[in-house]
Amino acid sequence: MTRAVCPGSFDPVTHGHLDVIHRTARIVEHVVVAVGTNISKNALFAPEERVEMLTEECAQWSNVEVRLFGGLLVEFCAANDIDVISKGLRATDFGYELQMAQMNRQLTGVDTLFLPTAPQWAFVSSSLVREVATLGGDVTPFLPEKIAARTMARVASRHTGAANQM
Ligand code: PNS
Repeated sequence: MTRAVCPGSFDPVTHGHLDVIHRTARIVEHVVVAVGTNISKNALFAPEERVEMLTEECAQWSNVEVRLFGGLLVEFCAANDIDVISKGLRATDFGYELQMAQMNRQLTGVDTLFLPTAPQWAFVSSSLVREVATLGGDVTPFLPEKIAARTMARVASRHTGAANQM
């Protein structure tokens, strides 16, 4: 059975992420969506919240499960019998993603499969979604309905929290 991992911070999960997960699930027999922490990013949602949101969104695909991971992705792959890492690729990601794929292959031999991001989501990233939401823009086109509502509520509660601290 071929098993792939779709890793990411998914903060929050976007239509672009879900498109890549779905396409991976059509290629391999089992997909593990691994929710990790990108140490260079300031998270909007706790890891457990991201797992909960992804689990709900991925319930429509019977061969997809969602797990939390910490530490090195290659160690998660080894511990979970993962054959391949599957990632969506935007033009802007290429250099960094290539570097990570080569580092991961060097570490344990695990290879990375890149799926070109669907054109309609090529400009969408969680970081930009967080920025747009924080500055009061409409993020509903880029996220599943419930995730968009949670994102806007989280951003609003942060604004309120910050205002109360002044
Ligand atoms: O959605 P993101 O923020 O691009 O996800 C990045 C993530 C979490 C998949 C990446 O940072 C990662 O793999 N982190 C685990 C730590 C690790 O293995 N680092 C070495 C990468 S070569």
